[in-house]
Amino acid sequence: MAARLVITRPDDWHLHLRSGARLKAVAGFSARQMARAIIMPNLPEPVTTLSRLQKYREEITAALPAGSSFAPLMTLYLTDDTSPAIINEAKGEAVACKWYPAGATTHSSNGVRDIRNIYPALEAMQKAGMLLLVHGEVTDAQVDVFERETVFMERELSKVRADFPSLKIVVEHISTRRAAEFVRAHANTGATITAHHLLASRNDMLAGGIRPHYYCAPILKTREDMEALREAAADDCGKFFLGTDSAPHAVGEKESACGCAGVFTANAALELYAAAFDEMGALDKLEAFAAHNGADFYAMPRNAEKVTLLKEQQRIPETLPFGDAKVTPFLAGKVIPWRAEC
Ligand code: NCD
Ligand code: ZN
Repeated sequence: MAARLVITRPDDWHLHLRSGARLKAVAGFSARQMARAIIMPNLPEPVTTLSRLQKYREEITAALPAGSSFAPLMTLYLTDDTSPAIINEAKGEAVACKWYPAGATTHSSNGVRDIRNIYPALEAMQKAGMLLLVHGEVTDAQVDVFERETVFMERELSKVRADFPSLKIVVEHISTRRAAEFVRAHANTGATITAHHLLASRNDMLAGGIRPHYYCAPILKTREDMEALREAAADDCGKFFLGTDSAPHAVGEKESACGCAGVFTANAALELYAAAFDEMGALDKLEAFAAHNGADFYAMPRNAEKVTLLKEQQRIPETLPFGDAKVTPFLAGKVIPWRAEC
């Protein structure tokens, strides 16, 4: 087994950086490991316009360590009021737009109530070559939380996929075998996969006690789903790529009677993915997943720089500073077998 792995510097195609002191606390982790990242727009005041996007990008740039060449790739948050004019104004600077079904996850209350309301905006995106990034879960209270992704593929995404054949769509943080099948079956469709969905199933979250630091949206599914995601991540089809969905929350917001969804992995993202690919016996497939497939799907150049991963144990800290609070990283206190030299 390789003790040292040199791969092209990866990109993170799905990242939450938050804002203010919390942004300052976490930005350096991603900047150290990743060349670029797709920055999620779900701030408490969401990034719905070009001017908010520019303001947020400036705030991120100012929070980066001195000399960092990390490039934040900005996105717009779709609402029922997103017009073609908003898309056309932002198209040079927003790489993609994020479709949060209203109420699906953290800070999504201003999301889209009915996607048909914004078909003209999707038309403008298709024309401009902007990607549609999808939080693929229905919010219907009648639908079981573990079925919400599957139902979304059938009820919502199939229709949009058929209505906009040349719009590039990324199904974000897929969590089920069914979602991986959907992505494989449709042209112009890709997906991000998180490290935690490759390393954990709902048993890790719920068997023998409820562990809020495993709780995220979409919720962890069965062991069988995890195996299907592993197969997808190692697949040569090029449709599946790295997106951490690293989503930090203060410890008290997670360890609560109603804890927030989100798993923080940015502190050791590459090592966590390396651990998963190592368990899969597929370390030779890590580079394509982490550094080639996403860039190719987004039609951006692959990075020239390299990073080195060493098969050396590291202990994940119990907590890390997070502005005026602390954040508990994924697998806190546990030892993982890889360390990134960056
Ligand atoms: C994300 C967050 O906290 O912003 N939470 C999560 O569980 N993934 C939002 C999201 O991507 O759904
Ligand atoms: Zn996310």
